[in-house]
Amino acid sequence: MPSVFIKTYGCQMNERDSEAVAAQLVAKGYSLAKSEAVADVVLLNTCSVRDMAERKALNKMANMIGIAKKERPNQVFGFMGCMAQSRGQELVDKLPDVDLVVGTQKFHRTADYLDEILAGRREKIVDTAAEEKSEAAIREHLLNGSAQKSVSAFVSIMQGCNQYCTFCIVPYTRGEERSRTIPDIVAECRDLVSRGVKEITLLGQIVTSYGKKEKREEWRINGASASAPGAPKRSEGGSTLDPRPSTPLSPFVQLIEAVHEIDGLDRIRFTSPHPKGYGDDLVEAYARLPKLCESAHIPVQSGSDRLLKIMHRGYTRERFLGIIEKLRRAKPGIGISTDIIVGFPGETEEDFEQTLSLAREVEFDQAYIFKYSPRRDTPAADMPDQLSTPVKEERNERLLRLVNEIAARNYEKLVGTQVQILVEGPSKKNPARMMGRTRCNKIVVFDGSDRHRGQIMDVKITRAGSFTLYGDPAILE
Ligand code: 5AD
Repeated sequence: MPSVFIKTYGCQMNERDSEAVAAQLVAKGYSLAKSEAVADVVLLNTCSVRDMAERKALNKMANMIGIAKKERPNQVFGFMGCMAQSRGQELVDKLPDVDLVVGTQKFHRTADYLDEILAGRREKIVDTAAEEKSEAAIREHLLNGSAQKSVSAFVSIMQGCNQYCTFCIVPYTRGEERSRTIPDIVAECRDLVSRGVKEITLLGQIVTSYGKKEKREEWRINGASASAPGAPKRSEGGSTLDPRPSTPLSPFVQLIEAVHEIDGLDRIRFTSPHPKGYGDDLVEAYARLPKLCESAHIPVQSGSDRLLKIMHRGYTRERFLGIIEKLRRAKPGIGISTDIIVGFPGETEEDFEQTLSLAREVEFDQAYIFKYSPRRDTPAADMPDQLSTPVKEERNERLLRLVNEIAARNYEKLVGTQVQILVEGPSKKNPARMMGRTRCNKIVVFDGSDRHRGQIMDVKITRAGSFTLYGDPAILE
């Protein structure tokens, strides 16, 4: 059977989609190649969020095709994902040697399409159509693909986005919000746990919108509803801390509760929530549900109310700060990370200073900073006052410096403390050492061996590096 190499650009959703496609291909008998140089089929799973990501994938494809013409004339090439969705046929017009283009609702068709192309039944396939229930088609896992993945797994709970932020291409590449049902997601999680997974991260473009549009009965587990008396039993140790709130729970919190019930699962995370949907029920869930790790990645994008409005974010700076304050009250020490865009059209020095002051106020543990990149068909791309590259770069630098300074100071404060980690596998930078993650989502590297993998253990932090902690389990004895 042929071998496949998949290269992934972009977010965790893309990583997860690639993993599911790889698992589907393996189930059909394909093998996974170590690199494009030894693969019969090369698939690029693309990202459109910024121009740079698109250009990287296009250049990569053009390069590979150039080499294949000389060295591997039968190699098959495909684009998948967001850029495949937004550009479709245009990709084949531009690069006629590309054989396959599969959009974001067609990942699960990739294996069948490759069969057809490899068997010579079809020469070229471009499929970017919408497909009902495709949100539930990302479910296969490659658990022994890498050490990391078998301890911690990602589960796609929904697809699409209805927020239409003015800078963002995602609603156009991923389509309308569609959520899987709770029983379907729980079944996938249970299967993962039975195969040794200890930590599950629930994934979606905006997880706080999970199930908001779907109001069907099948959504409820065991016929239990959020407000029903005699709510389903809490899991072991579930919640002696706080009673369940009397207000109705959002579908997302109901989902977290249902996943929380799974015996053998130690940790739950999710990404990404939207500040607009970050209700008190979700804040309270951290205090109530012990498996829910105290860490939150909440994209803020800007600290300026004026810009938040033009970005169509649907919250104010004050609302965002309020969420952070409530989270810290519920779980002191909770890890908080964010995404920030600098150089949005019309961003003034004052707007930018608002972002700097927000970063000072919140003290993010980590912030991913993006220079605004105009995306086609998005409203912001046509706004006046597009900023120059040097201005964007300068603001990017200034914010990065601030975020790094604050994070370094706070990481340093953890030296000498004892933290609980879940050991994922060998450290990427130094495979002779092991790495785990704290509940607050900080990486801890320590001297260990494969027997530690999958274990929850306490370590004492001995040193802090750049966004990495170093620990020593031995000190505990
Ligand atoms: N330019 C720069 N950054 C962007 N993001 C989304 N769209 C753009 C864009 N046009 C960033 C946001 C988002 C993250 C995934 O990518 O910060 O949260």
